[in-house]
Amino acid sequence: MYTYRGTTTLVTGASRGLGAAYAAELARRGSDLVLVARSGSALDEVAARLRTAHDVAVTTIAADLADRDQVTDVVRTLDDSPSTIDLLLNNAGAGAVGPFLDRALEPNQVSVDLNISALMTLTHALGRTMASRGSGGIINIASSAAFQPMPYQASYAGTKAFVLSFTEALAEELRGQGVRVMAAHPGATGTTFFDGATRADGTPYTMDPRITDSADTVARRTLDDFARGRSASYPGRRLNQIASWLPRYLPRTTTARLTGKLNRTLGFDSIRVHAA
Ligand SMILES: NC(=O)c1ccc[n+]([C@@H]2O[C@H](COP(=O)([O-])OP(=O)(O)OC[C@H]3O[C@@H](n4cnc5c(N)ncnc54)[C@H](OP(=O)(O)O)[C@@H]3O)[C@@H](O)[C@H]2O)c1
Repeated sequence: MYTYRGTTTLVTGASRGLGAAYAAELARRGSDLVLVARSGSALDEVAARLRTAHDVAVTTIAADLADRDQVTDVVRTLDDSPSTIDLLLNNAGAGAVGPFLDRALEPNQVSVDLNISALMTLTHALGRTMASRGSGGIINIASSAAFQPMPYQASYAGTKAFVLSFTEALAEELRGQGVRVMAAHPGATGTTFFDGATRADGTPYTMDPRITDSADTVARRTLDDFARGRSASYPGRRLNQIASWLPRYLPRTTTARLTGKLNRTLGFDSIRVHAA
C-alpha cells in the first residue's frame, strides 16, 4: 500500500475542478502539496484552505503549462527547491469541442501542448529524479475518451489516447524499479471543464448530472487505486469501464460512428467552447 502521509505531491491544474479535489483529498491523507495552475490567486485560496483544514505544507507555482518555456521554469523551480516530489499527479487538461474544421485551431493546439507536451515534460523531469532514487509515483489523468475516437472532440480524445498509451508503456519500462505509474480514466465529472461553453442557440452548456460523477468521489477512488498498486484506475461509475472494453471488439469505423452519434445526441456538434 502506498502511504500518502508524510510525502509531497505535485498536482497540476489544482486551482479548481478535479485538481482541487485531488489536492483536498491528498491533504486529508496527510500529503504535503505543490500546486500548479495559471491563476495564482485561485491557487493561493486553495492552498490557504488546505493549510487551515489539515496539518500539511502547501506551496503554489503559477504557470501556464501550455507554454513550454513556463514548463521549463516550473522544472527549474522544483530542482532548486529543497523538497522532494514523491508523487506527480498530471491532472491539468483542456479540450476543444465542436466540429474540428468549423472551429478555430488554437484551442486544439493548447490541448495538445497542455495534455501531451506538459504532461510528458514533467513526467520526464520528475520521473528521472524518482528513478535515480528508486522511489516515487506518477498518476496521469487520461479519460474514458482515451479508448476510442470521439467525433466533435477529435483532438481532445487524441490527446487522451496519447496519455493512455504513453502511461501504459512507461509503467512497463519502470516496473520493478521502485517508481509506479498509473493512468486514471474518469468519465463525465462535475467540474468547471465545460464552463464558458455555449450551445448553438447561445445558451450555456451544462453537463447532465444524471451521467456525471462528483469530483470528490473521482479523486478519492483514484488515490485508493494508486495506493493499492493498480496501473489503471476507472474512478467513475462502472459503466465507464465497461464502455472502455467495447472498442476492443468493434471495427474502428463502427466505434467512431457510435461515438459520433453519442456526441451529436449530447449536442457536441453545435457546442462552442471558449468562444472559439
Ligand atoms: N470533467 C470531466 O468530465 C473529465 C472527464 C475525464 C477526464 N477529465 C480530465 O481531468 C482533468 C481535470 O479536468 P477538470 O474537469 O477538472 O477541468 P477544469 O475544471 O477545467 O480544471 C482544469 C484545471 O487545469 C488548469 N489549467 C487549465 N489550463 C492550464 C494551463 N494552460 N496551464 C496550467 N494549468 C491549466 C485550470 O486552472 P487555471 O485555469 O487556473 O490554469 C484548472 O485548475 C483534465 O485532464 C481532463 O481532461 C475530465
